[in-house]
Amino acid sequence: MTAPVRSSEPAAVHVALGARGYDVIIGRGALAGLGERIAALRPGASAAIVTDSTVASHHLSAAEAALQRAGIRSTHLVVPAGESSKSWGVLEQVCEDLIAARIERGDVVVALGGGVIGDLAGFAAAIVRRGLEVVQVPTTLLAQVDSAFGGKTAINSRQGKNLIGVFHQPSLVVADTALLDTLPARVFRAGYAEVVKYGLINDAGFFAWLEANWREVFARTPAREHAITTSCRAKAAIIVRDERESGERALLNLGHTFAHALEAAAGFSDRLLHGEAVAIGLALAFAFSARLGLLPQGEAERVARHLATVGLPTHPAAVPGGPVGADGLMERMAQDKKVRRGKLTFILARGIGASFVAADIDPAQVRAFLAEKLEAP
Ligand code: GLY
Repeated sequence: MTAPVRSSEPAAVHVALGARGYDVIIGRGALAGLGERIAALRPGASAAIVTDSTVASHHLSAAEAALQRAGIRSTHLVVPAGESSKSWGVLEQVCEDLIAARIERGDVVVALGGGVIGDLAGFAAAIVRRGLEVVQVPTTLLAQVDSAFGGKTAINSRQGKNLIGVFHQPSLVVADTALLDTLPARVFRAGYAEVVKYGLINDAGFFAWLEANWREVFARTPAREHAITTSCRAKAAIIVRDERESGERALLNLGHTFAHALEAAAGFSDRLLHGEAVAIGLALAFAFSARLGLLPQGEAERVARHLATVGLPTHPAAVPGGPVGADGLMERMAQDKKVRRGKLTFILARGIGASFVAADIDPAQVRAFLAEKLEAP
């Protein structure tokens, strides 16, 4: 773990992927430097900002002004806010609009928004004219620590989340932590689940630091930049070792197999935000690990306690909109991208900060665990 960063100093985390390498810039006010950074990276490029209606009302004019100050011609496309925009219909519209706006190779798509916009705009950039560059400007905590970088882009299928997509690394990520000030508390809190995830994967010291300092992270102190920078470093280190998820990168999916099934059960709607589903998934991954005898029950309880302390859900029965059955969840997990020949790959843990990839998990064990959990809230 590093010492807390001062909020006035933007931090740069380099994602060292050789020719596809890029920086994640983290700091309060970093958006103001967006145009200069793009101009330095791609002199003469035009930009198309893809954003959603909510983000546009808060941040579009600041983003456009930052581009204009650097002499960058820009246009913008606004899609409806919400997970439902990760669809074929909205993807088609964004692609057509980019083409109509004459965004060419050598220009950049700027994804200004949360996880939905990053995934949608990143995917559109990957396929229009066989590949445009994308600059990610994440506006949620979840996007700043997770979804805005790493290269995965996707839309949802009727049969599951993120099932249609490609890898397409951004050229730059600018994470302005001041943009998080306008987030509803529920959305900020949901993103915090992904921060906790990094401690649980391989950094027990960071998890302990979060237990002691979460109030400061929520309260706009420099602890927030420290948590984001630590999370980005953790993710970048894994990505550079396994860009295409042939092994270790699957650790980043800790809690996500359960989470995606829960989100599908909630109809990919705002009834259950992705980060809230991840919080339940993290608690379940640790509880399941304890059930398999991999770690003491008290360790799983410590994880659930911290998530609950900050106000996140930790139990599958918390999914609004009616009961979620074990069979329904199992059916949705069968569509998980990590399923191989009928066996589930789960990320399990031998302790906090000691997660590992477990292939060949017998679905019957998972079903029995879920059925028991759902019977005894
Ligand atoms: N874009 C998110 C990831 O690659 O992990």
